[in-house]
Amino acid sequence: MPDSDHPDRPSRWDVLTQTGAGTPMGDLLRRYWWPVAGISELAAKPTRAVRLLGEDLVLYRDLSGTYGLIDRHCRHRRADLMHGFPEACGLRCAYHGWLFDQTGRCLAQPYEDQANPDAQLNDQIRITAYPVRAHGGLLWAYLGPQPAPLVPDWEFFSWQNGFRQIVISEVPCNWFQAQENSIDPVHFEWTHANWDVRAAGRTGPYIPTHLRIDFEEFPYGFQYKRIRADTDETDRLWRIGRVCLWPNGLFTGNHVEFRVPVDDRTMLSVTWHFSRVPKGREPYAQDENSIPTWHGPVKDAHGDWIASHVMNQDFLMWCGQGAVAERGKEYLATSDRGVVLIRNRFMADLAALADGKDPKAIIRDPAANRSVPLPVAQREELINGMTLADHLKDPPARAQLGRYIFQAGQPKEVREAYMAAMGINDADIAAPSGPVDFIKAREGAR
Ligand code: FES
Ligand SMILES: [Fe+2]
Repeated sequence: MPDSDHPDRPSRWDVLTQTGAGTPMGDLLRRYWWPVAGISELAAKPTRAVRLLGEDLVLYRDLSGTYGLIDRHCRHRRADLMHGFPEACGLRCAYHGWLFDQTGRCLAQPYEDQANPDAQLNDQIRITAYPVRAHGGLLWAYLGPQPAPLVPDWEFFSWQNGFRQIVISEVPCNWFQAQENSIDPVHFEWTHANWDVRAAGRTGPYIPTHLRIDFEEFPYGFQYKRIRADTDETDRLWRIGRVCLWPNGLFTGNHVEFRVPVDDRTMLSVTWHFSRVPKGREPYAQDENSIPTWHGPVKDAHGDWIASHVMNQDFLMWCGQGAVAERGKEYLATSDRGVVLIRNRFMADLAALADGKDPKAIIRDPAANRSVPLPVAQREELINGMTLADHLKDPPARAQLGRYIFQAGQPKEVREAYMAAMGINDADIAAPSGPVDFIKAREGAR
């Protein structure tokens, strides 16, 4: 398809990839809550720069524990509020002391308040401010019109007996090509499993190839399903599959990857990862406010893409498509049926929004927002756990005990906390030899 049949009109591809306020998708995306940081990050440092949907903001936690998300630049003379002082209520600019609360009100202008007490400028001055919610160890921001919907309470946020960690990376590409990857089963074979075969210095054998794929829409996204040369219709990756979570996630069971639009050419990858402790180590409890959050690099010290971990492999594929993939030059094939489905769903939702309707997967009813169930292929292992002996017997499960396979850069203290939760030590988990087929249904790593 050409980029545009009408030079004066944005192409379908511009529409799908633009994120700014006033653009069709920018306005659609503003109807959803976006994870922007870990709760534990704000406990460690109470201000954090956030660029979301093209807007520069500062996220803060004041001394009473209230979160705010306000314009990065002070309403007075545009100083950077990243350097502001959290007060009992609100964030105070470090330049001349103006104080703003989480609703955008100016509570104090110290010099003006004493020099011109009758002017009451405070009442006239507002700064851009957006609501923030804490949920599942993450802080969520909403930049859309009121009334805001609910932050989805996906079922995995209330799963018990798991060690959770949050991993964040800034990735220099448009968010939508990352989300297209959330409904692309075939790439697992090549970008991950066979990549690892080649990275190990082998030219084969490659893993069993995909024979059939299928897609099914449900209220909160799409399931995608696969049969490989070594599986059949009884396999749970065919019966249940994986989830393209609406509008911005890939949910594979033990983790969810959110693709968050920073602006049109940059996205934030926010992963929430759950490791069920082995059977027999329950109860294990982890405070939601102190789930470790770490930032993973996408390039190494030489400026080369990191390719040693699963999601790093994805990052380099997405960025290799260009900051904004040139979809007008694609040659789509049957393996891309899921990609076409989500493009069409977003286009249909743009029309629904123009008609005054909510787009897909907006939740407003509190009764419907309690531990919202999702398709989970390896539900049994994630809810009830596996014994440590079973973990150690199974190569992909064992590999996941041995290291965090999804992203490079896990800090040593997070690794140690994970090992303590799982009850393992280095002697238990000598590294497995050679590449591991992480797609295999049995263990459900991906
Ligand atoms: S620039 Fe912020 S108080 Fe003056
Ligand atoms: Fe991938």
